[in-house]
Amino acid sequence: MPDPETRQSRKPTIPAALEFLFEARWTVGAAVALLTGFLISGRLRPLECALALVVILLAAWLAPRRRAPEAADAPKAAGDALSRQLSAILSGLPDPVLVLDRRGAITAFNAHALAALGEIRIGEPVSFSLRIPEVLEAVRGVGVSGAPQKVLYVERVPVERWREAHIAAARLGDGAGMAIVVALRDLTEQRRSERMRGDFVANASHELRTPLASLLGFIETLQGPARNDPAARDRFLEIMRSQANRMSRLIDDLLSLSRIELKAHVRPRDEVDLAALARSVADSLSPLAGERGVEIDVAGAAETVTVRGDRDELTRVAENLIENAIKYGQSGARVEVAVRDDGPAPRLVVRDFGPGIAPEHLPRLTERFYRVDVSDSRDKGGTGLGLALVKHILQRHGGRLTIESALGEGAVFTAELQRAPAAKQGERFLKRAS
Ligand SMILES: Nc1ncnc2c1ncn2[C@@H]1O[C@H](COP(=O)(O)OP(=O)(O)O)[C@@H](O)[C@H]1O
Ligand SMILES: [Mg+2]
Repeated sequence: MPDPETRQSRKPTIPAALEFLFEARWTVGAAVALLTGFLISGRLRPLECALALVVILLAAWLAPRRRAPEAADAPKAAGDALSRQLSAILSGLPDPVLVLDRRGAITAFNAHALAALGEIRIGEPVSFSLRIPEVLEAVRGVGVSGAPQKVLYVERVPVERWREAHIAAARLGDGAGMAIVVALRDLTEQRRSERMRGDFVANASHELRTPLASLLGFIETLQGPARNDPAARDRFLEIMRSQANRMSRLIDDLLSLSRIELKAHVRPRDEVDLAALARSVADSLSPLAGERGVEIDVAGAAETVTVRGDRDELTRVAENLIENAIKYGQSGARVEVAVRDDGPAPRLVVRDFGPGIAPEHLPRLTERFYRVDVSDSRDKGGTGLGLALVKHILQRHGGRLTIESALGEGAVFTAELQRAPAAKQGERFLKRAS
């Protein structure tokens, strides 16, 4: 389609004084033909004919001038072109953006805006698609004062979404007048992570405060009523030691979690024999298992299963899963540990035959501080951070944790990892040797 400006320049040029003659050419032509007919037939005299012609020409000149249709459409076509150009520029932006004219009618918008607001039409008032009174009020304010405004609002349906509208005035260039730019930023994720961080700090402080309060209580008792009671002192000191140990475990787990989070996007590059690692962790936990009357079976003991990973972190994974199986599955008296490499991903499988876990708890077990039974976990020396740590370590390794369990049927925890690309290394070695 030709540009409106080029279309206008191709129009034939007529001197302004004769323009009306060109416009009224058919009327004037018909009048001249009629008058010539009357003159030839002798019905009118030449003077009368000349007078009638003058009257007709005068009427044609005075008649309201009809504007060429192209000229009438020109501003609209120019507006459409501007709107298309603006929309093209906006399509490169990551947020929903709308451009309005001074009266609040939509001139341009991008695909993100369409996705966020549902239906948008060029030329319609912005209030048809963005029905947030505070934002519309700010748009009016910016239209009057030109000073930018920021409005935070929340959409409740279909899901809760926090957005911040940035509204600013912009001058689009000569003759184009003022535009109002409305940019919407989605703050939902940011607010969710702020809330999670707040909850985490509150939980961590609470977990630390409990043993600390107990320690302070015993110190006061030892300084006061139990000052001269050696039997009570020994008992209290023992409890104080276990509370201090609990605080220390909690701080260790918190530090491990934050270290893993810092490295979350760095994939470990070492190669680790998962089977040997599982055997050694099972051995190191056999005294705990023995204390609780639990027997640990390690399947596939002779195999080697090489995965890509960080040895210390994978040791924490195996320790947490096997220790949980011993502690929480104690009643089953048996824990099976297996390392398998028969599927798409090598994996560590830890199975117990204890009370199992009700389905409503399963999706939440890897949340920080989530426990099925808080006092049971505390009695067993738990911090509520073990499975959160396992999940984060596996994520960093490009693996995942799956939990299968039903009440009364024990539990199976599977840690999937990534196989070390042994074949590729062999190839590289061969290439270098040849
Ligand atoms: N093998 C298991 N059998 C039953 N419940 C388990 C098992 N493993 C974990 N859980 C439940 O999951 C919770 C969270 O585990 P974890 O994150 O390791 O924290 P902690 O062991 O410090 O309590 C435990 O408190 C327990 O309620
Ligand atoms: Mg644990």
